[in-house]
Amino acid sequence: MKLVTTNHPLEQLNRALREADVVLVPIDANDADPFPGSMSDILRTLCTSPMARALITRASARWTVSAATAQDPLEPRVGLIVLALPIQRTLAGGRFAAVTLLSDAIDGETVDQLAHSARIDARIARTILATNAPWERRSVKRLARLVASLARSEGERLVGVEAGTRLSAAWEELHLLHSLSSEMTLGSAPESFITRTLTEVRETLGCSWTALRVSGAAEPLLDASLGGIVSAGIAPAAASKIFDNANAPSRAIVVGTDLVLAPVRRNETVLGLLAAGDRRDGDNAMSNWERTLVETAAGHLAVFLDNARLYRDLDAMFMGSLSALVSAIDAKDPYTRGHSQRVALLSRQIAEAAGLASNELKNIHIAGLVHDVGKIGMPEAILRKQDRLTEEEFAVVKQHPEIGFRILRDIPQFAPVLDGVRYHHERIDGRGYPHGLKGSDIPLFARIIAIADTFDAMSSNRTYRAAKPREVVLAEMLGCAGSQLDPQLFAHFRSIELRGYDALNAAHAAAMRDAA
Ligand SMILES: [Fe+2]
Repeated sequence: MKLVTTNHPLEQLNRALREADVVLVPIDANDADPFPGSMSDILRTLCTSPMARALITRASARWTVSAATAQDPLEPRVGLIVLALPIQRTLAGGRFAAVTLLSDAIDGETVDQLAHSARIDARIARTILATNAPWERRSVKRLARLVASLARSEGERLVGVEAGTRLSAAWEELHLLHSLSSEMTLGSAPESFITRTLTEVRETLGCSWTALRVSGAAEPLLDASLGGIVSAGIAPAAASKIFDNANAPSRAIVVGTDLVLAPVRRNETVLGLLAAGDRRDGDNAMSNWERTLVETAAGHLAVFLDNARLYRDLDAMFMGSLSALVSAIDAKDPYTRGHSQRVALLSRQIAEAAGLASNELKNIHIAGLVHDVGKIGMPEAILRKQDRLTEEEFAVVKQHPEIGFRILRDIPQFAPVLDGVRYHHERIDGRGYPHGLKGSDIPLFARIIAIADTFDAMSSNRTYRAAKPREVVLAEMLGCAGSQLDPQLFAHFRSIELRGYDALNAAHAAAMRDAA
């Protein structure tokens, strides 16, 4: 059977249900049908006829408003079965009913009426429906269970997809801005860029000294110890005195014969004042040419300071968003509060002990922070469960590395951390999840995070048990080296200093007590 493809969130469910001789119909008769089939799909044509749509709308008014839970099957005409779809309206893109015609509708008036409403021949409709082995009345309960369970699992999938899409969009934007702005200021702390510019101006002008005093919004960009002054060829204190005695001009001017002052301004915002003094060459006097040159340099500095300010704001926003995301992960289960940060810290330390390069250390830190991001899509009832998980519940939990991977995979800047997220529950002996990778087939980041994750899980209180003493934790982990954990990385782990971890753990425990 050929179905028209749409991008509707329930498209997959619609297809699965149609295979089972059930059609999805919007509950509100005024809503357009997002899954229009061809006229040869007789079941669909009858169930979406104006009369059927009106019957469905009227009958379903008996359901509770959200209709997000399973409801009793309705039968507004003999053999026309209307079932609620237990999926949240926001996820499903509207309210829908699953509708079918039982075999006893075929011989009765219902098909006549619906066919008339759909303007098709009732006899032909009957013949076609009869050949498709329609549902029997005695199977209605089974049908209702089938629809409810398909809808429920589709609903869970949509929750994950939605969380993923929203996060990807936000992250993509942040990361794009972040990487653009880091390139702009790549390798240049504001002081060193300013010093380079000052030295260049000084040499070009042939003067003894140049200095910049930053002010206003640009002030926090410089290390506080500099007192807002960067200078070349003059002590900052002496430059400061000259600035104090000068009136800040609104445009570049020559003061006396040997001092040029130029405001550093971006649009209407004053970011500082640039000065150049004591010309040694020629007639020792500053001319219009020198003034123009200092003015041009002031323009460059203004652009730089403005960008640096933007970069600093973006970086703060990026780090803030990252920590908001981490809090969102940890908030799913209060017992694991701080887990992401502790795993990030330990992972970084293990990577450092293993000799990874510094850019890799930053990446493993981020990987540790987001390794459980997939838990955002998991039901809290499972994550917070006090008792042992059932097999089905554990199967849900086991999906979190893959869900996390899917949440982050479309964001290019997350590429270096994806392996860590996706494979952190794999085991060296191949008995881990979700992919059963073995030994060095498991990416390095994932093997590192696995150690940090295991250590933290055993060392902190969990829903189902209290923290274990350190000797017990380390002894148990040693027993797992070679089967669950990478033995070489475990040796590196044993060499790291755990004081930072303990401090973090204590801070998180205190925060949890305060919150309680
Ligand atoms: Fe995990």
